[in-house]
Amino acid sequence: MVRNHIRSKMIEPHGCDDGDEHETLPLPTLPPMPRERVPLQKSSICSRSYFMVVMVFFHVYIINVIVLLLYVHYNNGPGDVLATPNRDEASGGSNHHKPPESHQQPSYSGFQRDMHLPRLEGIRVGHVQKVSLVPDKVHEMRTLSLKPLLFEIPGFLSEEECRVVVQLAQLKGLMESQVMVPEGQEELTEQLNLSPDEIFNLLDLNQDGQLQLQEILTHSRVRDGIWLTPENLREIYAGLKADPDGNGLLSLEEFRSLGSDAFQRFLQQRGVKSSQLVRNSRHTWLYQGKGAHQVLRDLKKRVTRLTRLPSALVDLSEPLQVVRYEQGGHYHAHHDSGPVYPETACTHTRLAANTSTPFETSCRYITVLFYLNSVEGGGETAFPVADNRTYEEVSLIQNDVDLMDTRKNCDKSNLRVNPTKGTAVLWYNYLSDGQGWVGEQDEYSLHGGCVVTRGTKWVANNWINIDPDYQRQARYQQLVSQQGEEDTEDEGEQSQPSPEQLHTADSHQEL
Ligand code: OGA
Ligand code: CA
Ligand code: FE2
Repeated sequence: MVRNHIRSKMIEPHGCDDGDEHETLPLPTLPPMPRERVPLQKSSICSRSYFMVVMVFFHVYIINVIVLLLYVHYNNGPGDVLATPNRDEASGGSNHHKPPESHQQPSYSGFQRDMHLPRLEGIRVGHVQKVSLVPDKVHEMRTLSLKPLLFEIPGFLSEEECRVVVQLAQLKGLMESQVMVPEGQEELTEQLNLSPDEIFNLLDLNQDGQLQLQEILTHSRVRDGIWLTPENLREIYAGLKADPDGNGLLSLEEFRSLGSDAFQRFLQQRGVKSSQLVRNSRHTWLYQGKGAHQVLRDLKKRVTRLTRLPSALVDLSEPLQVVRYEQGGHYHAHHDSGPVYPETACTHTRLAANTSTPFETSCRYITVLFYLNSVEGGGETAFPVADNRTYEEVSLIQNDVDLMDTRKNCDKSNLRVNPTKGTAVLWYNYLSDGQGWVGEQDEYSLHGGCVVTRGTKWVANNWINIDPDYQRQARYQQLVSQQGEEDTEDEGEQSQPSPEQLHTADSHQEL
C-alpha cells in the first residue's frame, strides 16, 4: 500500500513534464531540447492542477502512513514495526488466540506447528563449509551433490572411535543382512489368486503386450530379493525354453505356458548364492541411549549437531546399524526409505497411528553413513543418478547395462565415495515440503555399496526417522515423552522405550 503511493507520487509529475519550472522563464531564441515540450499558456493551468493533484496525493499518503503506524502500534505494541508485515496478527484485529502460522500454512490449520526442520545448504558441488561438532576441532564438510543433497565430512570419527564401534558390533554379534529366499511369498500370491494374464498385465509396465528383460528384472528384485542379471534371465529362458523365438521378449502366450513360479523353481533347483542377492553383508544394531558406551553416545551428539535437528528427533531414531562386508560383499542400489503416499505409515510412528495402513516404510529422512575402516579394494558407495538431469526407473536398465548393479556397473555411476576410515557422508532421502517439514522422497538418493574386491569393509548407518505427517510425528513424540515421565524421574536425557523394541526387524531390506 505504502509502496503504491510512493510510486504514484513519483510517476505523476511526468504527466505535466516539469512544466511549472519553465513557467516564469523567458523563452528567447534557443531551440527547445528535444525531450522538452514548449510551455505555452497551457503551462499555468497545468501547473496549478498539477499542484492540486500532488497536494491531494501527498495528504492521502501522509494520512495513510499515520493510520498504518497507529494500527501497527495498537496491534503489536511499539518497537515491533519491522516484523509486522509477515506476522499473522497484522492481518486481522481479533485473532490474538489463533496459532501464529494458520494463515501461511492452511494445510495444518487447527494444529500448532512449532517445529521447523533446518536443512543443510549445499550451495554448489565442491563447496566446503566449516562445521563445529566437537569442542576442539573444526570439521570441513564438502558438498558432493545437490540431487540428492549429499555431504562428506572427513575425520568425523577418530581412529579410536572406529575401533570401538567395530569391537562393540563384534561383541554383540552380526547376523546375515538378507536371508536367502524369504518365506511367505507363495502364500501371498495364492491369496491374491491372480491369473497369468493378470500377472502379465501387472508386469508389462509400458503396456506394449511384451515383457522386456527389465520388466522381469525389476519385479523379481522387489518380490524375492534375488538380483537377476539380463544374462541370468537369458539362461533361465533357455533352460525353460521360455522364449522360443529368442528375441529376449516374452509374449503373453510364452508367459502363459511358463507357469507362475517357473523362475523361482528354476533358481531354487540351481541354488542361489549370496552374491546373487540384493545384499551380501552382515549387520547388527547398537543402542545409543542412556547407559550405552560413551563413544556411541558421543557419536549421537555429534550427529545431532551435524544435522542441526532437535535432539528429541535424533534420540527417537533407529539405533546405530553396523555393517560388515566380506571380500565379494556388495549392496545393490536401493533407497534407504520408500515413497510416502497418504496411506503410508512410518515404522517408527506406528505406535501413534490409530489406523492400520496398507503400506509402511521406515521414513529415514537423513542417512549418516560412517566408514569404520579404509577398504583395500572396491567397496565405494555409489550414487548412480546423483545430479542427473532426470530420474526414470525404467532407464536405469538399458542395453543390458543395469546402473543399479553394484557388482558390475559402479564405474558408470555418476558419483562414487571412497570408503575412508573416519569419514562420514550425510544425505537427505526426502525433499523439503517447502514449509519446514519433510516432503516427498528424493529418488535421486538411490545408492549402493560396490563389491569389495579386497579385504573387509565396515560401515555404520545412523538414520534419522521423521514422519512426513507432522501431526503423526508430534503425537508419537508426545506419547513417548509421557511414557518417559511415567517410567523415571528424568535427568536431562529423555527416557524412552528402547528403540530396539521399535526396530527389531530390519525394515531396510523390505523396501
Ligand atoms: C546401507 C548402504 C552403502 C555402503 O547400508 O544402506 O547403502 O557403502 N550402504 O555400504
Ligand atoms: Ca513391456
Ligand atoms: Fe543404503
